[in-house]
Amino acid sequence: MTGLYIGLMSGTSLDGVDAALVETDGARHVMERGWLYTPFPSGVRDRLRRFCLADEIPLEAFARLDAELGELFARCALRLLEQSGVSPRHVRAIGSHGQTLHHHPNGAWPCSLQIADPNRIAERTGITTVADFRRRDIAAGGQGAPLVPAFHREVFHCRGEDRAILNIGGIANLTRLPGDEREDTTGFDTGPGNTLLNFWIQRNLGRLWDENGQWARSGHCIDRLLHALLADPYFSASPPKSTGPEYFSPKWLENHLRPFALQRPQDIQATLTHLTAKSIADQLHGWSSPPRRILVCGGGVHNTFLLELLREYCGCPVESTSHHGVDPDRVEATAFAWLACRTLMNRPGNLPAVTGARHPVVLGAIFPA
Ligand SMILES: Nc1ncnc2c1ncn2[C@@H]1O[C@H](COP(=O)(O)OP(=O)(O)OP(=O)(O)O)[C@@H](O)[C@H]1O
Ligand SMILES: [Mg+2]
Repeated sequence: MTGLYIGLMSGTSLDGVDAALVETDGARHVMERGWLYTPFPSGVRDRLRRFCLADEIPLEAFARLDAELGELFARCALRLLEQSGVSPRHVRAIGSHGQTLHHHPNGAWPCSLQIADPNRIAERTGITTVADFRRRDIAAGGQGAPLVPAFHREVFHCRGEDRAILNIGGIANLTRLPGDEREDTTGFDTGPGNTLLNFWIQRNLGRLWDENGQWARSGHCIDRLLHALLADPYFSASPPKSTGPEYFSPKWLENHLRPFALQRPQDIQATLTHLTAKSIADQLHGWSSPPRRILVCGGGVHNTFLLELLREYCGCPVESTSHHGVDPDRVEATAFAWLACRTLMNRPGNLPAVTGARHPVVLGAIFPA
C-alpha cells in the first residue's frame, strides 16, 4: 500500500508543529517528500504550557483549545502540500499525534490525552485522518509510549551493529536496536530532554531555549544538585516506563532547588544539561550489551553542549540521524506518517516489548475524508 502520507507532530517541548510528507509502505520503504515546521503562536503556547501543568482546566477552555489546534494542524498540512506542489487528493492519510495534555500511564486508571480535533483536520484537508494513537496500547495494558521504536527499527536497524536511537524532545526516549534481528527491539522514556532546560532559561532570560547550549556552557555543574536530581526513582525504575513534563515539571525542579537558592542560574542550567546527558548514559549502561553507536534525533541534537556531554558520558560514537539519511528534526513526524499507514493497513504499530502491552495492537482512530 505504498502511498503518500502526512505526519503531524507537536511534542512536549511545546515549540510548534512538525509536518512531514512521506512516501511509505508502512514497512522499510520510507522516503521524505517535504517538511514544514510551524512555531506555535505565543498565545497558544502559553495556554498549552498552563494547561499541561494545571491540576484542573475549565472544560470550555479545553474544548476550545482542542478545536483551535485542530484548525492549526489542518493549516500546517495544507501549507506543507502547497509548498510541496502536491494535491490533497494524492495523500492517503494524515497521522496526527496531537498535543499531549496529560500522560499518566500508571496507577488505577492509566490514561493519556492528546488534543487537536481530528474531525476538523479531515474536514479542512479532505484527507482521511488517523489520530489518538496512544490509547489503544494503554487499553491493552501498555504505557502508550514510546511509539516510535517500531519505526526506528525499520529505518535505522543495521545488521551486526547494536545501536541506540535517542530522541531528545521535551522528554527524551531511547530505542535499543540489537544488530541481531531475532532479538527484541526495546525502548523507554529516559526522563527530561529539553523540558527543564527550556523552563529554566525562559524563567531567567525569557528565551524559548538555550541556543546551542551556550548559556549552560558558561556555567559549572553543581555536583551535589546533580546527584540529588538523579536520585529520583524514575531514573532507576525498570522499563516499560514513560513520563511527561507533568512529572519532570517546574515544581519538581523547584523542590530540588530549595537548598541551592544562592547558586548562579547559569550553573543550574549547566547542571540540568548534565542531568539530561547523564540520566541517558546511566540508563544505557544498564543494558546487557552497550550499543556500538548512538543516533540522535529531536531538537536536542542542536544543543552542541549537550551532545558533547553525551559523548563524554556514553563513551561511544554519538551522531545525528542526518548521517544515516534522516533529518533529525523530521524523525518523529515521519514516524506518525508511517504509523498512519500501518493503521490503514490494519497492522499493529506498538511493540509490546517496549510499551508493556499484552499484545500488538492496531493504533489510532480513523476519521474518513
Ligand atoms: N539550536 C538549538 N539549541 C538548543 N536547543 C535547541 C535548538 N533547536 C531546538 N532546540 C531544542 O529542541 C526543542 C524542540 O525539539 P523537538 O521538536 O524535537 O521536541 P518536542 O516537540 O518535544 O518533540 P517530541 O516530543 O516529539 O520528541 C526546543 O524546545 C529546544 O529545547
Ligand atoms: Mg517540537
